[in-house]
Amino acid sequence: MKEACVQRTLERFDSRGDKATSKVQHEASVRNRLSGYFSAPVYIVVLTDNTSQYPDYNHWDGPMAAGFLMLAARALGYGTVFITDAIPDQVTKEVLRIPDRYTRVCITPLGIPVEWPDSPPKKKLEEFIAYDTL
Ligand SMILES: Cc1cc2nc3c(=O)[nH]c(=O)nc-3n(C[C@H](O)[C@H](O)[C@H](O)COP(=O)(O)O)c2cc1C
Repeated sequence: MKEACVQRTLERFDSRGDKATSKVQHEASVRNRLSGYFSAPVYIVVLTDNTSQYPDYNHWDGPMAAGFLMLAARALGYGTVFITDAIPDQVTKEVLRIPDRYTRVCITPLGIPVEWPDSPPKKKLEEFIAYDTL
């Protein structure tokens, strides 16, 4: 999948007019960036089924499922990241041969992070709750 992402990016590079860097430099930086994304032992692709009973709800159900999955993983000591653009939809579908009836919500790595980022300071309730009007 990583190789397919690299090739996809290089195809886009070839079709671009203004090239500030050489293709070799560009490929090196793309490979470097992608190596972080492809360093986990497990990947989960969250999909919705376009033929489900209530397909209109997929738009909400899919991201909710992904979010709950990420919270559950965190509670078990694993790291995830909601990835869309960095690993293109088409790449996932082609490489994993996912049928057209499924829509990809995201793909997430699952693994034990080298380090955890510091949590931002907690906001006070008054900072994000409006009791009357905004
Ligand atoms: C719709 C959506 C798409 C995202 N796509 C990517 C992505 O392609 N690559 C990436 O590294 N993170 C992606 N993220 C994750 C964000 O970069 C970020 O980690 C996440 O929103 C949490 O941000 P916070 O920790 O600053 O609150 C995406 C998040 C969302 C909601």
